[in-house]
Amino acid sequence: MKGLRRAILIGATLIGNEPLAIILADDYCVSANDSVLSQRVKLYEIHQCSIVAIEEVPEGETYRYGLIDGVIEEEGIYRISNMVEKPVPEDAPSNLAIIRRYIITPDIFDTIRNTPPSKNGEIQIADVQLKLAKQGKVLGYKFKGKRFDCGSIDGYINATNITYALEKTKEAAL
Ligand code: G1P
Repeated sequence: MKGLRRAILIGATLIGNEPLAIILADDYCVSANDSVLSQRVKLYEIHQCSIVAIEEVPEGETYRYGLIDGVIEEEGIYRISNMVEKPVPEDAPSNLAIIRRYIITPDIFDTIRNTPPSKNGEIQIADVQLKLAKQGKVLGYKFKGKRFDCGSIDGYINATNITYALEKTKEAAL
């Protein structure tokens, strides 16, 4: 209830000195081959740093998302320098939206502990990631797959339909 950062800290004692993948189910992702988690784990194995999944969104919808600013390092991979939460269109740094699929490294647990709550009292991960991004320690990864916004009725229905259709296709193939 108090934000993702608090949930991570509750889990931190179980995680120990390991990197951690975070999946928020209201962003539901499907992909043809490698899952979005597996894609990020492979990237983590190369870069060993925090990774945030990103997706291009239409210019007219940027106000609904956290957006990144950064430089492209290789195809689909950005070194993030700033993250702006739900800006008005004229302040949008890009149309690359943050999707709630993260990998974080255990060395940031202390930063998580020491970052004060946001103005509304929530203890969100975005504040911590912004700190790290400003130090050049976060990569944005344009994952291969499709995302459904299950926080909207249309997104939830479409996610349900595609999951049902994929299961039926698998059953038919067996
Ligand atoms: C949250 C995050 C935002 C992110 C979005 C993706 O917003 O705060 O940075 O882009 O999820 O779905 P929410 O959808 O909870 O308003």
